[in-house]
Amino acid sequence: MNILILGSGGREHALAWAVNQNPKCDKLIVAPGNAGIAQIADCASIDIEDGGVVVNFVEENAIDFVIVGPEAPLAAGVADRLREAGILVFGPSGAAARLEASKSFTKEICDAAKAPTAAYGHFTDADAAKAYIRKQGAPIVVKADGLAAGKGVIVAMDEQTALDAIDDMFGGAFGGAGAEVVIEEFMEGEEASFFILCDGKTALPIGTAQDHKRVGEGDTGLNTGGMGAYSPAPVLTDEIAQMALDQIIQPTIDEMAKRGTPYQGVLYAGLMIKDGKPRLVEYNVRFGDPECQVLMMRLGAQAMDLLHAAAEERLAEAQVNWADDHAITVVMAANGYPGSYDKGSVIKGLDALPEDSKNMVFHAGTGEKDGQIVATGGRVLNVTARGASLQEARDRAYAMVEAIDWPGGFYRRDIGWRAL
Ligand code: AMP
Ligand code: GLY
Repeated sequence: MNILILGSGGREHALAWAVNQNPKCDKLIVAPGNAGIAQIADCASIDIEDGGVVVNFVEENAIDFVIVGPEAPLAAGVADRLREAGILVFGPSGAAARLEASKSFTKEICDAAKAPTAAYGHFTDADAAKAYIRKQGAPIVVKADGLAAGKGVIVAMDEQTALDAIDDMFGGAFGGAGAEVVIEEFMEGEEASFFILCDGKTALPIGTAQDHKRVGEGDTGLNTGGMGAYSPAPVLTDEIAQMALDQIIQPTIDEMAKRGTPYQGVLYAGLMIKDGKPRLVEYNVRFGDPECQVLMMRLGAQAMDLLHAAAEERLAEAQVNWADDHAITVVMAANGYPGSYDKGSVIKGLDALPEDSKNMVFHAGTGEKDGQIVATGGRVLNVTARGASLQEARDRAYAMVEAIDWPGGFYRRDIGWRAL
């Protein structure tokens, strides 16, 4: 099979790494890719949010199967254009991608599916939103309805912060994404992520993970795209995962099918767990980044068969071969991230690191310049390891981190603390 992966981050490097190990993969192209991906696949620089461009590229390169990494091409309907052209694709339609692109849509689906989630109100007008906040009181959560690159959620511990968030959102701080807001009950508990493959009808869980959103050790400082992750997440026990499947995930898939917009792809459910019960925080319609890196490390080559089965609506007969192991990834980011940071600093020491089924450095924001690897983004490397225990995986990952010579970057030293 000739396979095309869309995206350029650590998530796509991990997907490419898993796919590349599967004997069914004859040729692998990643668009646009990065310097790490270029070591295992061809990279093509095309506009991946333009469905017409992607369809032409697929036809010219005799691609059999397309895997979409990030949410933007999904929300832009790239998977729809591919399906219309008769091309096999892993990733939801634009209509189904609304589960990530519109928070009010997700809440409405939860209502219809009777899935446990926070109580909420949906507003298109600042005065009504403020009246609701004053009535409910703090703590309370204010969310821009649309895609806001992970920045559109304000968890307000006091009423004034929530009211100010309304002014910001209706004042255009998040552009079109903030023209409508969802205001939610604040949920207490511990968060974990649950990843489920879907083919429109069947739900197949492929693992749990926990991310580290804050930039600083001890979960302090600004929010980021994620500074590290591990899998499995011990808080999401088999029993709670089954409750989430029965009460949240399967009812969502059934409701989407009933509406004529079946969900096919990976559903990434952010769950809040309290007193042994899960509630939905949000859905994403793609793999988490860096959560994908730990999932791929654990699944290996079978990941490609599973994604292919989802695209071909064969999940009912698919099976995950679980290894009873743990994986962890430590993100190395450019100094200054998530604020402004320099680009172009040289990274050394990568060649000497092991690269095998237990140790892998996935590249996120890297490029190649004069034969050297240089940083080109905020999150730059995902140093990933697998082990019989989380402690073993963690020790191995940090040993690799310490062997990387990159004065232009930093990392958190406490990834995995919650589980250890
Ligand atoms: P994201 O949409 O991924 O940027 O997530 C925002 C974060 O805000 C989540 O990961 C939670 O930590 C938090 N959050 C969102 N909704 C709620 C809620 N209803 N109660 C408590 N925390 C929330
Ligand atoms: N790591 C969080 C996300 O991918 O949304």
